[in-house]
Amino acid sequence: MRILTFTGKGGVGKTSVSAATAVRLSEMGHRTLVLSTDPAHSLSDSFNISLGPEPTKIKENLHAIEVNPYVDLKQNWQAVQKYYTRVFAAQGVSGVVADEMTILPGMEELFSLLRIKRYKAAGLYDALVLDTAPTGETLRLLSLPDTLSWGMKAVKNVNKYIMKPLSKPLSKMSDKIAYYIPPEDAIDSVDQVFDELEDIREILTNNTNSTVRLVMNAEKMSIKETMRALTYLNLYGFNVDMVLVNKMLDTSEDSGYLEKWKSIQQKYLSEIEEGFTPLPVKKLRMYEQEIIGLEALERFAGDIYGDNDPAKVVYDEPPIKFERSGDTYEVQLKLMFADPVDIDVWVTGDELFVQIGNQRKIITLPISLTGLEPGDAVFKDKWLHIPFDLNSQVHSYQEKKEYSRG
Ligand SMILES: Nc1ncnc2c1ncn2[C@@H]1O[C@H](COP(=O)(O)OP(=O)(O)O)[C@@H](O)[C@H]1O
Ligand SMILES: [Mg+2]
Repeated sequence: MRILTFTGKGGVGKTSVSAATAVRLSEMGHRTLVLSTDPAHSLSDSFNISLGPEPTKIKENLHAIEVNPYVDLKQNWQAVQKYYTRVFAAQGVSGVVADEMTILPGMEELFSLLRIKRYKAAGLYDALVLDTAPTGETLRLLSLPDTLSWGMKAVKNVNKYIMKPLSKPLSKMSDKIAYYIPPEDAIDSVDQVFDELEDIREILTNNTNSTVRLVMNAEKMSIKETMRALTYLNLYGFNVDMVLVNKMLDTSEDSGYLEKWKSIQQKYLSEIEEGFTPLPVKKLRMYEQEIIGLEALERFAGDIYGDNDPAKVVYDEPPIKFERSGDTYEVQLKLMFADPVDIDVWVTGDELFVQIGNQRKIITLPISLTGLEPGDAVFKDKWLHIPFDLNSQVHSYQEKKEYSRG
């Protein structure tokens, strides 16, 4: 099953792009399911059809779902919630507050992602299009299994070999202790969810079947957030194969006070093209009206894909790589247009600047590298390698580093 995930800030056009992609996929003969996990649903508005938490047929080869994340959460997490609510209650936290504290931010959507495995196993669809919540939460969700995987096994073993055998005898010892012992069904739920998340992570980081497409607008906030998304997606091994810049104003005709907006967009567009190269950057025009209904979605799909099949993986090498050996962390950047004669590299806060001639590439650094001083960069076969010494002093100043030829 081919999985296409769309992510980006709220309002940039994720749902419209997801729906258009799904329409095109279905027309190309792929049995397609488009699933929205964003609690702010608008897939039904896009198709102009009411949708529910189970697949609704839109047309030949096309089904759509708007999941109810809270229902999915309850199904998978209720036993754990009950346990934590009890623990919190023992600490004097009670009622709704205790309930709320058992759910990490963004966790609701996580349980909806567990459906991916189910649909893949069922074999009813060739393509799954995911319309996800705004970047921040989704990213954390997508990366969570990876972040947790090292700790998962430890937790599971503690559960299996210590908590489970001891829970009965311990709870007999004292009522106070009994309060803190997780019941078996809670331990089992945690086990199961962790196992499944690991499977989902594997499915989503399989770079031939699963790709992420970033949707953005040509505006300052959107660019920053999308840069951050790209860094983290690459860091966690997801394959981003396309950047879509939506809602571009038509520059060919004069339109009064929008002229200023057009020049702002064009300025940001060149930043985007510099920043995201070598990823394919697709510009999409702003329509005269909202994109609603199959006909409008088909037209939009034509703008996005031309005559191409959306299932095709457009780019399959991460433009940013992170490697660690010992105490050195290396950030590697693919530079298509680099003229190795004049590259400058420096860091300000969490941003890594690479100046190539008069072009500047800005990369958001992962938090673990923020404040570290970059070493001398080396350029080898289109890749710029920038070492960071994890033991170096955290700095707050800006210093340009020369690079050397590899
Ligand atoms: N290229 C476009 N031209 C005109 N309207 C658009 C375009 N892309 C999206 N829209 C409209 O903008 C609004 C937000 O789009 P939507 O796809 O729901 O964004 P998101 O899912 O990112 O929040 C919708 O009303 C949609 O019809
Ligand atoms: Mg949406």
